[in-house]
Amino acid sequence: MAENQQKLIHTFGALAELGSEVVQKQSFQEMIRTSLHLLLGSLAIMRGGVARYSRFGHELNMLVVRGFGDDFPLSLSLCQEDERQFLTNGLAPIEVSQAKVLPFFQVYDRSFESKKVELLIPLIIRDEIIGVILLGEKANGEPYSSYDKDIICAMSRHIGVGIAQRNLMAELERRSEENRRLYDDLRHTYKDTVRAFAAAIDCKDKYTEGHSVRVGKYSEIIAAELGWSDEQIEGAAVAGYLHDVGKLTVERNIINSPHRINAKESAELNKHPAVGYEILLPIHHPYTDVPLAAKYHHERLDGRGYPDGLEDREIPYIAKIVNLADSFDAMTTDRPYKRRRPANEVVEDLQRNAGKQFAPELVMAFCRAMLKEVTLESKQKKFRRLLGKDYLEAEGIVPMLKNALNGINPTSSLTLVGLD
Ligand SMILES: [Fe+2]
Ligand SMILES: [Fe+2]
Repeated sequence: MAENQQKLIHTFGALAELGSEVVQKQSFQEMIRTSLHLLLGSLAIMRGGVARYSRFGHELNMLVVRGFGDDFPLSLSLCQEDERQFLTNGLAPIEVSQAKVLPFFQVYDRSFESKKVELLIPLIIRDEIIGVILLGEKANGEPYSSYDKDIICAMSRHIGVGIAQRNLMAELERRSEENRRLYDDLRHTYKDTVRAFAAAIDCKDKYTEGHSVRVGKYSEIIAAELGWSDEQIEGAAVAGYLHDVGKLTVERNIINSPHRINAKESAELNKHPAVGYEILLPIHHPYTDVPLAAKYHHERLDGRGYPDGLEDREIPYIAKIVNLADSFDAMTTDRPYKRRRPANEVVEDLQRNAGKQFAPELVMAFCRAMLKEVTLESKQKKFRRLLGKDYLEAEGIVPMLKNALNGINPTSSLTLVGLD
């Protein structure tokens, strides 16, 4: 009785240790190695091994072996009948000597005999084969008692759960990786589609070729300078690419008019923000502000814009970004009735209109991005690619930009002034 009690205490100790091993160990291999060591040690078993089942190859791959030597097979294949028998048996020790009729034991009979494998425990967790544990003879040469087998069952269950958990984690990681890749593919497809769409919008207007694409890129520059995340920057670019989508419904001769259009034509053209909103609204955009950017990109902080004459804080932020990008492109490209303006004049215009048409902090961000490129603080050539090599190298542009950055009050928006 005293001996049994001692054995019981010892076994419980090993089981407790095994439980914490399964939960704590970072390295899976190490966890299995320690678990086998504890199992063999608690019952003084000479040798043993733990194998993980691979359902793709229908095989058992040895994770850890102890005392079996180098000639023991590292992979044992299972046939359907073996799997059926293991599942019927459940998580309970099978005496190898009693099971020789099963195909599995016939195939590996010689290996098991030479290594004196006495017990095989199928690790069945939630009606699935997770692996097996193989155990050699006990150090004292005695057969396994039913008490030994109970202990083996309890410890094997711990090991089986550990392997099952690991399998689950691996499966989850694989799926999340797959989802991430799918999401990336979708994002690329979306971006490509949007860009193709922007090119289609620009096709209609022979005088402002590439306008939507440039507005997309300027919006991207502003968002990046504001420190937005990659996804938000991408959203700003998309809003820029699609801001004039409503022009698709405006008559070609109004868009391509070589002279200033009359009031009626102007009213027709001015419908494009609202039409763009209607076009974009039913589409599921990963970035929700895209339709609003189209609708409000001609609004001004001072309320003199269209279509709704919104003021400052009533205007969605993304629309303010696109408005600045849009106006900058209009000023820096040739139009049929107006040549593009020199860089100095454009910067002056931005500064003068900060707080009236444009959000001051956005003008500052835009000027800062320009200054960084002109002074080579930034190695990127975004402006140079969009405006041509020499455009920003105009004389006095650096002091001009610095002056604008010092001169603009970032909080001088109309609503704030109004509240004072
Ligand atoms: Fe527009
Ligand atoms: Fe535009």
